[in-house]
Amino acid sequence: MITALTKSADDTRQLGAALAPLVVAGDVILLSGGLGAGKTTFAQGFGLGLGVQDDIVSPTFTLMRSYDGRLSLIHCDVYRLDHLQEVIDLGLPEMLDAAAVALVEWGDVAAPGLPTDHLETRIELTPSDDERWFQLHPVGSSWLGRTDELRLATQRWQS
Ligand SMILES: Nc1ncnc2c1ncn2[C@@H]1O[C@H](COP(=O)(O)OP(=O)(O)OP(=O)(O)O)[C@@H](O)[C@H]1O
Ligand SMILES: [Mg+2]
Repeated sequence: MITALTKSADDTRQLGAALAPLVVAGDVILLSGGLGAGKTTFAQGFGLGLGVQDDIVSPTFTLMRSYDGRLSLIHCDVYRLDHLQEVIDLGLPEMLDAAAVALVEWGDVAAPGLPTDHLETRIELTPSDDERWFQLHPVGSSWLGRTDELRLATQRWQS
């Protein structure tokens, strides 16, 4: 597991951007953390790092939005299990097959219906308003094989 501490929303965007070069088509990043933890903020930075030009907004009401970048970015919010089914019905698995990466907010709920290999990213609030703890867990061989790269990319935020 890799831990990282960000000190502002912008710092979290930079952390997200730093992970973008590591992803390949079909990758899934699960984002968990309570309300206001910073999941969407992280997604915004990740999108910038992936070369997405459009503003990334919370997918809470639309469940799934897709953006064009180096790879297509699919950003989903599946805070209820029936939403997960909807996202699957909307074609998430097929989109992943076709040169996309997915960021799934509320990953804990989502994990059962998604690819076994994924990067689990947990975000925790801290006593300080502007700091967030990140825990990155690579799951499955494709992500475990990138552990060193992940460590290197996030070095700046490690304590
Ligand atoms: N270090 C930090 N990282 C991320 N966000 C931070 C940080 N410090 C303060 N913030 C603030 O916390 C809020 C995070 O909101 P965000 O929408 O990203 O959370 P979320 O986890 O997606 O919430 P939701 O569960 O509503 O989808 C923003 O208002 C942001 O400015
Ligand atoms: Mg959000």
